[in-house]
Amino acid sequence: MLRGEYGEVIERSFRLLVRLGEIYGADRMIPVSSVQVAGVSYKSIGDPGLEFLEDYASKGARVRVPTTLNPPGMDLEDWEDFGIPADFAEKQMRIIDAFREMGVMLTATCTPYLVGNLPRFGEHIAWSESSAVSFANSVIGARTNREGGPSALASAICGLTPNYGLHLDENRKPNFLVKVSVELKSNSDFGALGCYVGNIVKNGIPYFRGIKNADVDQLKSLGAAMAASGAVALYHVDGITPEARLMDISGLQTIEFGEEELKETYEKLNTGNDPDIIILGCPHASLREISSLAGKLKGKKLKKRVWICTSRFTKEAAKKMGLVEIIEKAGGRVVADTCMVVSPIERMGFKTVGVDSGKAANYLPGFCKQAVVFKSVDELIREAVL
Ligand code: F3S
Repeated sequence: MLRGEYGEVIERSFRLLVRLGEIYGADRMIPVSSVQVAGVSYKSIGDPGLEFLEDYASKGARVRVPTTLNPPGMDLEDWEDFGIPADFAEKQMRIIDAFREMGVMLTATCTPYLVGNLPRFGEHIAWSESSAVSFANSVIGARTNREGGPSALASAICGLTPNYGLHLDENRKPNFLVKVSVELKSNSDFGALGCYVGNIVKNGIPYFRGIKNADVDQLKSLGAAMAASGAVALYHVDGITPEARLMDISGLQTIEFGEEELKETYEKLNTGNDPDIIILGCPHASLREISSLAGKLKGKKLKKRVWICTSRFTKEAAKKMGLVEIIEKAGGRVVADTCMVVSPIERMGFKTVGVDSGKAANYLPGFCKQAVVFKSVDELIREAVL
């Protein structure tokens, strides 16, 4: 590969992986069974990214392991309807075409594990969406470092990743013990916990104690928030996540999270009042979350715009179940493929966004120039219905 015997694209991709392996002291390359590629939105990668991808695709870059795609900057079918500028849409479509040519599955979601890219426990993968990395490592027990867009693409093209970091047992041990003494009732409570802990532990590995129960949606909310406020790629939850029982937690630095810390985090994340729009589904909503929202909106009328972001797969299923119709009848929308952070919402006239996601609350002020109202779905919807 390094000698260029398999062509320029493989040589360049492999060289990148070798360099990474050298920096982090990897002993060898290991095969990966799947890849999640990020860096898809034109808003994030701009013209340089677009040109790189088109160049790579035209030189014959092809993925050799199942590879799924992160969200682009717009709903790929209804972009016009959502007010996406035409110049943005044209470039976004070219990015999608380049990925299609490379053989990437056009899943367009940050929750690949909900749409068929589901690794098993212990499997080595190379994923580059921080919330999905966290979910794969922590909830499933698969193994991936927090890849960047280019290194994940290189892994997809070579089918390999350098063996370092979270691929190794010794690096999956916790270094913080988080004692949770407050009852977490909603996805936003889990998001607030994630924001608080991520800020403190940065790229550490927290071990949570005191979380009595958490469903998959709450765990995805927790992991996404920690990956955004810090750079957490793996966490353990006592009695809930698969590797927790294997871990020794004696002598770890302790973080307390109670009523006071929860309240303080909500206050910190709320930078606005009275949202212009409420956007849910960060990470992309599961069918269960869409179903729950439809239940809350059934027979109601909204006075504010409410969007829920999800993958196209999930939207199609929700459509078949009549859930999309219920949400639309109330005046809401189900947005497929994209989300509030990677789409150009600052160019669509919004100033304040209501969210229930810790990750979105973290990114919206800086990345999208939005003030944030951070509350639970129940509170947001209560204030949005007539
Ligand atoms: Fe997904 Fe966008 Fe949130 S990519 S994790 S919905 S910021």
